[in-house]
Amino acid sequence: MHKDPNPAAAPSPVASGQGAGAFDMDAFWMPFTASRQFKSAPRLLAKAKDMHYWTPEGRQVLDAVAGLWCVNAGHSRPKIVRAIAEQAEEMDFAPPFNMAHPKSFELATKLVALAPEGLDKVFYTNSGSEAVDTALKMAIAYHRARGEGQRTRLIGRERGYHGVNFGGISVGGIAGNRKSFGTMVGGVDHLRHTHDLKKNAFSRGLPEHGAELADDLERIVALHDASTIAAVIVEPVAGSTGVLIPPKGYLERLRAICDKHGILLIFDEVITGFGRLGTPFAADYFKVTPDLMTVAKGITNGCVPMGAVFARRAIHDVFMQGPEHAVEFPHGYTYSAHPLACAASLGTLETYADEGLLTRGAKMAAPFEHAVHSLAELPHVIDTRNIGLVGAIELDSIPGAPGKRAFDIFRACFERGVLIRTTGDIIALSPPLIVEESHIDQAISTIADVLKTAA
Ligand SMILES: Cc1ncc(COP(=O)(O)O)c(C=O)c1O
Repeated sequence: MHKDPNPAAAPSPVASGQGAGAFDMDAFWMPFTASRQFKSAPRLLAKAKDMHYWTPEGRQVLDAVAGLWCVNAGHSRPKIVRAIAEQAEEMDFAPPFNMAHPKSFELATKLVALAPEGLDKVFYTNSGSEAVDTALKMAIAYHRARGEGQRTRLIGRERGYHGVNFGGISVGGIAGNRKSFGTMVGGVDHLRHTHDLKKNAFSRGLPEHGAELADDLERIVALHDASTIAAVIVEPVAGSTGVLIPPKGYLERLRAICDKHGILLIFDEVITGFGRLGTPFAADYFKVTPDLMTVAKGITNGCVPMGAVFARRAIHDVFMQGPEHAVEFPHGYTYSAHPLACAASLGTLETYADEGLLTRGAKMAAPFEHAVHSLAELPHVIDTRNIGLVGAIELDSIPGAPGKRAFDIFRACFERGVLIRTTGDIIALSPPLIVEESHIDQAISTIADVLKTAA
């Protein structure tokens, strides 16, 4: 039986816009969205090129957040568009289990050449969340394969964001993303977060204070014993929680404690990967190499879903045992190494290389830093912070309405032609790496104007 296309329930919200026509907005259950607010006043995007979006009415919007931290080379870049189109024409899909297509190997070779020294193997997923859960499973299975099957415990960090799958929210540390979902994965503990405005407010680059917070891992080791711990996962710079930059020396110390206790260190570089800090990866910026590294977003410039886990050769090699006809790592996705994603990623890497984008952030970091900190004295601002091409403006909250002030500012900026991102009462900026100073000026002056009149 067919559904009634016009059910008698409440009338569906309808949006319309020049070029978009009128359409029904009822059916789409939107991700991470204040849906009722959105559907009463939709913000739609219909076209994108380089640093800009356009609404269906043709209004230009500056993209100050690279879409969602992913469009690092800017929008609709020709080499990437062409690579996807040609691949779709040539071969749409190839099964990835016990079969493969040449571009998946070509891409893997290029990716490991770009990755920090020692990360020689790459496993494909379709998103950052899947990359995280893959890395967590890899860590536990690795210890088991080498005879330490009791090492199953996973350690995350408060305020960490590792996507939305069960593994990711379990090691993640954002209460709002966890509280509705029961007990999640067992055997998880959390390091303290590193955000300390009393000591570090208005830091430029890495905060001075807090390296000793890495010693929290020693506390957790003392509690559970190192022999039960498989891995620690952190974002080198925590992005989605509102841009928390690691104190000087913190990541080095975490690496040393992991080494001391035989615990794998996983860097979640879904945001920091592919040039965001002015180096190809945050591991390069901090000169700290993890054992496993998750990426997504910038791997395809956001054009086709893809994620990946980089692994040390020695981790991979432990799996290569048992009968040769048997699967060594029983994990993977129908769309792992999808031909369109591989083509998009090859086009993306070529674009990054042609334009020097993976290190361009280092050049733009100084004017960006200057611009972000120019907001420090404006109403409601309690912190400004930056690293590479990531910046944050933290606001005090309206009493009893956390998040509302920043959300209103987000909407007002969009009305004035600038797309920003907010988490709680923190504004985050992460422009495409092709950003020019004029774009930075426009974004910052728009935020300043809105802040001056904000409630
Ligand atoms: C650090 C980190 N890990 C994982 C994810 C999840 O990625 P996805 O949304 O592609 O599943 C994100 C997304 O923002 C992220 O920032």
